[in-house]
Amino acid sequence: MADTLTITDNRTGKQYELPIEHGAIKALDLRKIKADQDDFGLMTYDPAYQNTAACKSRITYIDGDKGILLYRGYPIEQMAEKSTFLETAYLILFGELPNAKQLDAWVHEITMHTMLHENIKKLMEGFQYDAHPMGIFLSTVGALSTNYPDAKRIFEEDSRRLQIRRLIAKVPSIAAYAYRHSIGRPYVYPDNDLSFTGNFLNMLFKMTELKYQVNPVLERALDILFILHADHEQNCSTSAMRGIGSAQSDPYSSLAGAAAALYGPLHGGANEAVLRMLKEIGHVKNIPQFIEGVKKGDGRLMGFGHRVYKSYDPRARIIKQTADEVFAVTGRNPLTDIALELERIALEDDYFISRKLYPNVDFYSGLIYQAMGFPVDMFPVLFAIPRTAGWLAQWDEMLRDPDQKIARPRQVYIGAERRDYVAKEQRT
Ligand code: CMC
Repeated sequence: MADTLTITDNRTGKQYELPIEHGAIKALDLRKIKADQDDFGLMTYDPAYQNTAACKSRITYIDGDKGILLYRGYPIEQMAEKSTFLETAYLILFGELPNAKQLDAWVHEITMHTMLHENIKKLMEGFQYDAHPMGIFLSTVGALSTNYPDAKRIFEEDSRRLQIRRLIAKVPSIAAYAYRHSIGRPYVYPDNDLSFTGNFLNMLFKMTELKYQVNPVLERALDILFILHADHEQNCSTSAMRGIGSAQSDPYSSLAGAAAALYGPLHGGANEAVLRMLKEIGHVKNIPQFIEGVKKGDGRLMGFGHRVYKSYDPRARIIKQTADEVFAVTGRNPLTDIALELERIALEDDYFISRKLYPNVDFYSGLIYQAMGFPVDMFPVLFAIPRTAGWLAQWDEMLRDPDQKIARPRQVYIGAERRDYVAKEQRT
């Protein structure tokens, strides 16, 4: 017998049988139930989508209670240990790990798209000298749509694949130019002899030397961080990507919207906020007072808590290990002691225990980025580069999903009833 949910309407005694599929009922099945006679059908009220599945997806699985994260079934720990970011991006986008030939071809295709049109370079030069790199990033990604009008052919698979390759290849170039712009240094063209992260480091940090020498430890650490950030199912920015994409906007415009969502301090901007918070705390001795303030409601412990994880975020654990390898090269970030002590105290405090608040991906990532030489306002951009793969995979899945239509939530209207217009002389 199929799983069903029986709902009895106490007012009429009428019973409704709603099928349960994949642990969910269809919200539209509730339409059969009417709140009153004129009602078009019962709705659910779910601000912030805390209990609403807006899609079926095969990409990323999270078990928030157990702290499990899988990309297409593969545990994040194995991906971080054994894979590369570009291989992970392929897996996320196309569903299977590539064989050796497919991987070579994919890496080559991405490498061949790293250059930006000179017009885009000029556009980026127009930003204020102190513009936030994330603002530059999201505006420039949106502007790319004017360079690639063919991107509007979203229902042609070849066109979608081409835009996916372009975007994954160009986001590091945009991010690096945004950084160079903010510090007044000339842009560095991509070096296609280097790996994805090696070339990114080259575009960020090359000075007058003829060939940039990539530090293999930092190159690998950045690759691991990119793997960890590649996708995270239906978070705020991914929902924005799907929502904008559902109106059949091109992928550059949709991705600009997703990046705008990521910019916020409750989402991808949290890594930046963590660093600012650690600096503000300033010393281990100030931690108890800071924690007391958080408990009283004076701000949040940034980098803690998650809508889905109610245990340790598995990404935070991997980042903590990676930090030691990076610090062996760069020297220890002095804020690390404050972060470790904050975590220790918070994990013993009933406020955090009872609310199941644990370190999330952003708690330690900023310490690594800072030790590697990134300024704090680059942190959300460093999140956006790998998440581009996830946004595009989710966008592509959404377009191929026959269940999807333009995203358009309902509302519960609680405003004024119908009334007649009053001339301004007669208003009180
Ligand atoms: N510090 C102190 N209290 C917190 C925190 C925190 N970081 N996070 C949640 N709480 C409290 C919150 O005040 C509430 O308490 P009460 O029940 O007494 O009102 C309770 O825990 C539940 O919080 P919530 O706001 O209902 O939880 P949410 O699922 O809506 O929010 C969150 C999730 C990530 C926005 C939130 O935990 C937060 O603001 N964390 C800090 C920002 C941060 O680190 N964001 C990065 C998220 S991971 C990377 C990403 O995917 O973007």
